[in-house]
Amino acid sequence: MGDLYSRLQAAAAGIRRRTGLEAHDVVVVLGSGLGDYGRTLERSQALPYAELGFPIPQAIGHGGTAYSAQFGNHQVLLLAGRVHAYEGLGMEAVTFPVRAAILAGARQVVLTNAAGGCGDDISPGDLVLMTDHLNMSGISPLLGMNDERLGPRFPDMTDVYTPELRAKAHAAAAAVGQKLKEAIYFWWHGPMFETPAEVRMARMLGAGLVGMSTVPEATAARHMGAEVLGLSLCTNRAAGLSASRLSADEVIEVANAAADRVRALFNQLLPVL
Ligand code: HPA
Repeated sequence: MGDLYSRLQAAAAGIRRRTGLEAHDVVVVLGSGLGDYGRTLERSQALPYAELGFPIPQAIGHGGTAYSAQFGNHQVLLLAGRVHAYEGLGMEAVTFPVRAAILAGARQVVLTNAAGGCGDDISPGDLVLMTDHLNMSGISPLLGMNDERLGPRFPDMTDVYTPELRAKAHAAAAAVGQKLKEAIYFWWHGPMFETPAEVRMARMLGAGLVGMSTVPEATAARHMGAEVLGLSLCTNRAAGLSASRLSADEVIEVANAAADRVRALFNQLLPVL
């Protein structure tokens, strides 16, 4: 098996070999309901996760295929399907594809997710840029021995979500007639949705979004010195903030309904990242 770094290097070499490309500049993780974006791209190359040595996601709405495609001058690797912390495979599995893509050259990491809205101004259907996060899970992808070849023992977390990338995202959104909101994302590992009391806590701590993903990958990417853009699609008001109960089906439904907007935004944004 080898150590993590060797396995990541092997996966990065696999990405290079299978695409014939020396480097991918950008990696995009497609969250719940957004995975189809890769499949519908013209002139993209599909790479099944199994062939890349990536862990296979089990969550609904998550496939397991990477797509390599060119956007302007950028070579982009789109990851349709992510492993979540709640699947129990460990933080190494959760962060493996993003880390491998960074070793394959990606300096920019775009992380998307479906999330509950708990900020007063965050409503279902809103696209929201993550400005920061609260890791309330008690776990971190950086626990354990640090490998200096990946990054420093104590990475700075001041600007996890790069302000310049947010500015580019706002500009791209405006160019296609969209508006992006901004919020802090509160991560708990799930898989249960939050209780209303937990959502009240998230609100008190300043969060506008609650969700079960993204923070591990963002943390690993910052550990490796890559820049991160976090984009949430609010699929529902968080527990206790609306009369209705939460369901995974509703999350996928709302995410699917927003797919065209996300597609338009990415087609504008990815070439200019
Ligand atoms: N909570 C956590 N994760 C989510 C939610 C939510 O309300 N909606 C979509 N993903």
